[in-house]
Amino acid sequence: MSFKGMRDGLNTQVQNEIYSSYLYLSMAAYFHSNNLNGFAHWMRLQSSEEMGHAMKIYDYIIQRGGRVQLKEIKKPPHDFKSVKEVMEKTLAHEQSVTQCFHELYEQAAKQKDYATQSFLQWFINEQVEEEAAVNEILQKLYLIADKSSSILYLDKEMKKRATSS
Ligand code: FEO
Repeated sequence: MSFKGMRDGLNTQVQNEIYSSYLYLSMAAYFHSNNLNGFAHWMRLQSSEEMGHAMKIYDYIIQRGGRVQLKEIKKPPHDFKSVKEVMEKTLAHEQSVTQCFHELYEQAAKQKDYATQSFLQWFINEQVEEEAAVNEILQKLYLIADKSSSILYLDKEMKKRATSS
């Protein structure tokens, strides 16, 4: 079965992942500007992880004999009202990325592209972990409301994230 039908969708997903990386870097910069260096550290690792996802898809397109065509990356937002708003936007963004992977998977299934279905399975599992990780942080933020001493404590916890995967 030809890979051609999947190529455009996967190229768009490279764009989505690079945008995610850009968005999270912008959020990291917001945290740095508010001296929340633990949150900034977490977001910078998240940003690197997203670039890793983009490259994973980039390499797969090449492996399948496809042509990578990079698309325009829009300007991410840079101003946010609160830590909570940033994490809410992060969760909403991850949910939209999950939806993109589900649609790509459905397309691959329709086209009987078994290799791409198998490739996409990794991302579908990864999205479950990503949404859970962001949701956990968000639930803690809801719990502590806007108490600044608790936010500073959480900021220290965020600094403990060791890797970008
Ligand atoms: Fe690459 Fe967070 O999705």
